[in-house]
Order: sequence, then C-alpha cells, then structure tokens
Amino acid sequence: MRPFITLISLLLYQCFALSSDSHASNRAKILHDEELLALGGNITLTEQETKVNNCLMQYKLNEINFAFNNPEYFNFTYHFFKYKTNIHTSKVYKIIKDLPKGAALHLHDVAILGPDYLMNITYMNHLYVCFAKDKVQLKFSDQLPTDPCSGHWQLMSEARRLSRNVTNFDAQLRQHFTLVVNDPAKVYPCIKNTWEAFMNYFITVGSMLTYRPVWEQYFYDTLKAFREQNIMYVEVRSTLPKLYELDGTTYDPFITAKAYKKSINKFMKDYPDFTGAKLIYAPIRDTDKKSVTKYLELALRIKAEMPDVFAGFDLVGQEDKGKPLIEFADQLTAAADNLTYFFHAGETDWYGTSTDENLVDAILLGAKRLGHAYALPKHPLLIKEVLKRDIGLEVNVISNTVLSLVQDVRNHPLALFLAQGLPVVLSSDDPGAWEADLISEDFYVAFVGVASKSSDLRLLKQLALNSLKYSALEGDTKKTALKKFNSEWNDFINRFECSAY
Ligand SMILES: *[C@@H]1O[C@H](CO)[C@@H](O)[C@H](O)[C@H]1NC(C)=O
Ligand SMILES: *[C@@H]1O[C@H](CO)[C@@H](O)[C@H](O)[C@H]1NC(C)=O
Ligand SMILES: *[C@@H]1O[C@H](CO)[C@@H](O)[C@H](O)[C@H]1NC(C)=O
Ligand SMILES: *[C@@H]1O[C@H](CO)[C@@H](O)[C@H](O)[C@H]1NC(C)=O
Ligand SMILES: *[C@@H]1O[C@H](CO)[C@@H](O)[C@H](O)[C@H]1NC(C)=O
Ligand SMILES: [Zn+2]
Repeated sequence: MRPFITLISLLLYQCFALSSDSHASNRAKILHDEELLALGGNITLTEQETKVNNCLMQYKLNEINFAFNNPEYFNFTYHFFKYKTNIHTSKVYKIIKDLPKGAALHLHDVAILGPDYLMNITYMNHLYVCFAKDKVQLKFSDQLPTDPCSGHWQLMSEARRLSRNVTNFDAQLRQHFTLVVNDPAKVYPCIKNTWEAFMNYFITVGSMLTYRPVWEQYFYDTLKAFREQNIMYVEVRSTLPKLYELDGTTYDPFITAKAYKKSINKFMKDYPDFTGAKLIYAPIRDTDKKSVTKYLELALRIKAEMPDVFAGFDLVGQEDKGKPLIEFADQLTAAADNLTYFFHAGETDWYGTSTDENLVDAILLGAKRLGHAYALPKHPLLIKEVLKRDIGLEVNVISNTVLSLVQDVRNHPLALFLAQGLPVVLSSDDPGAWEADLISEDFYVAFVGVASKSSDLRLLKQLALNSLKYSALEGDTKKTALKKFNSEWNDFINRFECSAY
C-alpha cells in the first residue's frame, strides 16, 4: 500500500506543480503581451537608454510604492491646486522636464503663460483699469477708455499708487489672472462654477492681451518658454480675437493670424534650432450657422495666404453648453476637402448626449486629431475607427481635473488609451489658467498618476514621437523634425547622469 500512496502523491504533486507552472507562465505571458500592446511597449531601449530608464524607474517606483502603502500621501488623489507646489521636488518631474518631449499640440491662445507673466504686463504704460463688481476690465489706450464699465476707468499706475499697499493691490489683481484658489472644493463645487471662472479668465485677460504689441510679444514669449522645456514645435488654437492699437484702431481677425506669423518668424530668426509653430483657427462653438460660414471662409483665406503657418480648424468653448458638431455638419463636410480638422470632441462625463456624440461627427468629418476624446472609451466602434484612421488623441490630464471631469487621476480614461496602445499625444490645454508649467507637469502627472506602474522611458519616448507624428508638419519638414528630435534625444541620453537629480 505504501508505495502506491507515494506514487499517488507523487502524481498529485506533479499535477499540481505542472498546473501551477502553467498558471505562472500563462500569467506572465498575459502581462507581457499586455505590456507589448500598451503605448510604447514595443520600443526596444538601447543600452544607454536602459541606464537612464533604470534611474527614472527607481525614482518612479519609490514614489508609487510609497503611495501604494500610504494612500493618504498619494497626492494625485487630491485636487491639483493642493499638490501642485509639491511636484517640483519630484526627481521624476525633474527628469521629465529635461527630457526632449517633441511637440505641444493642444493649447489655447491667452491661457498659456501664467499670472506672473500677466502681472508684469500690468506694469506697462498706457494700461487702464476699471474695477467693477467682482470683475476687472483692462485696456491699453492713449486716452481714457469709453468702453462700458460699471465702475470708472483709471490708469493702472494711478490705481496702484492710490492703493497705498501695492503688495495687497497686486495680490488681489493677480487673483483675476488665475483659477488657483486655496479651497477649490468650496469655490468650484461643480463644473458650472469652474467653467464660469474659466470663461471670465479669458474675458479679463483677453482685453489686455489683444493690444497688438502685447499679443505679438506674448506668443513670442510662449515659444521661448516651450523651448526652455525642451519642446521643439507648437500648435496653438486661437479664436483670433480682434487686436487693437493705443489710438483705438481695431483690426479684423485676419490680422491676428498675421500677428502669429510675425511672432513665429521673429522667433525662428532668433532661435533657428526651433522647429516652428502653426495656428489652428478655433472660434467659439456656441454660435449659429451663418457665423460658422464666415469662420470657414476666414479659415480658407488664412490657409490660402499663410499656408506655412495655418494648420487647420476647430470649434471651442464648453462643449456641453455649446453647439454640437452635427448642427454644422453640412458646412463642415463641404469644407472638409480644403481644411484639416482638429475638433474638440467628447470632453464630457456624459454618455449618450450631444457632447458625447461629437466624437462620431468629429471622426466622420475626418478629424486628423481629437481634442480630449475623454468619452471615447464608451464607443468600441469609434476606438476601432481611431486606430484605422490613425487619429491622434490630444489628452490633457490636468485640464480635465481642474475643469471638473475627474478628481483622482487614476480614473482618467488616458489609462485605457495607453493600455490599448491608442495614438495619444499629451498636452496641457490652458496651463497658464491653473498655473501649471507649460507641459512637464502634465507629463509627470500622466506618467506617475495615470500610466501603469511599469510604464517607463519607452512610454515617454513614444509620446514624444507621437507628438511629431500626429502634428500638422508634413513631408520633409516632418522628417527633419523627427531627425532633430532623435538627435536631441540621443544627446540627452548620452549626457544623462542619475546623480544630477
Ligand atoms: C509599436 O507600436 C506603435 C504604436 O504604439 C506602432 O506605430 C508601431 O508600428 C509598433 N511597432 C512594432 C514593431 O510593432
Ligand atoms: C505629496 O505631498 C506631500 C505634502 O503634502 C509631500 O511631502 C510629498 O513629497 C508628496 N509626494 C510626492 C510623491 O510628491
Ligand atoms: C517679470 O519681470 C521681471 C522684471 O523684468 C522679470 O525678472 C521676471 O522674470 C518677469 N516675470 C515673468 C514671469 O515673466
Ligand atoms: C500690505 O498688504 C499685505 C498683503 O495683504 C500685508 O501682508 C501687509 O501687511 C500690508 N502692508 C501694510 C503696510 O499694511
Ligand atoms: C477646395 O479645394 C478644391 C480642390 O481640392 C478647389 O477646387 C476649391 O476651389 C477649393 N475651395 C475653396 C473654397 O478653396
Ligand atoms: Zn482645449
């Protein structure tokens, strides 16, 4: 009997060992295959890149392991305003900041540089201010402005002098140039409050920045700031507001497009190592068909006269409250052969609403990229179309948290996009409005807070490559840009020293 029992137990043991072996290998295979599917997962790192990656991942795993064991210290659970000042102490952030990141493709005209930059402008001559209830109006002029205002106009320098306490005066003025507050839960209890503050930001800041010389300088300084964060090319969306001069002259929006061209040309002359910038004309979507016809005419005119600067067309503003694309589908279809589309679509928490369905229209209208595409995971067929048509997804994680779509970034749909290897590009939308740096903080939050714990340098490299691949650059210009990126990337990799961080 004894040997028989031994034999049985041996068999049993082997069976068990076998099945546990196959479980382990099946498990490993699934995880490995999923890693290959994920964005950047199929990149092979060089020996030198592997060294950089080891350093980066050591720091990333430190942060994640600590947070996994101490969830109360996982900063991305909280509102961006609560942890933003901590970001800069992160070594992962510092490495990301230095990393060549390619292009920034989703940004809005007057919401890129932050309140400190704007405060400097308030020290320029000829700026008038009118303090009305809870609001402030600004205007450059060579005489007292006559624009309607419920307070009274005075020179900013005079208002500042009369305030007696300039520190206090400036602190209060600065509050009009930012959404950042100490208690976001109280000030922005719901999306309505956030968007109201956000729209007010554009109105307040817009009136000051549309002074033509300031407008031109702002975009020049925008490009400079991006270059300093190792971005080599920028696509900016603008509503093309009318610019004005001190004497009250105002120009039509075509001149605003020309101002972009002027700033870009000047910048390229001063920094020939930069690849350049292009304009996406993106007027407000809360409008009627007649206006859209005019918008499309203007877009075609800019394209005809400034083909090197013009990238394409979009419609902007709070998507839930504006008009859906379907409303203008006929007009947009008619112009689709002549215009490249970069529609905001699906920037919503809703499912089955007009905003959600904008994704269908944007894709059918042939969009080259989608702005946000936040609702995309709810559309299995559209995900297939995105892959088939190779449509870039412009994801702006911090924007989606600040503008009340998601609180804990681990719930951001970007995680699903990355897992499925969808063509993502990261950008920052309106970093100035929430005092984020131009783009590195967005990369950092996405990399540590949203992506898999095991996502590494390969993801960051793929994101940078995607930003050029899905840009409006074409032909030889695109090839040159990719070559330049690769050389900058290799320089970074070869120079890298872990101990420097
Ligand atoms: C790797 O994945 C990217 C998309 O993430 C794709 O463009 C590329 O063709 C893949 N490369 C290989 C060798 O499979
Ligand atoms: C999170 O925030 C705390 C302060 O609230 C800070 O001490 C800590 O370093 C932060 N953690 C990370 C990973 O940034
Ligand atoms: C504001 O102006 C001061 C003085 O010219 C300058 O040192 C500072 O860098 C400027 N700040 C920004 C954010 O541009
Ligand atoms: C000026 O205002 C600042 C900020 O509100 C305050 O801290 C400071 O004490 C004030 N200075 C004087 C002299 O009142
Ligand atoms: C649009 O492009 C077609 C050729 O693709 C051209 O015939 C037509 O004139 C263009 N329309 C406009 C308004 O530019
Ligand atoms: Zn946007």
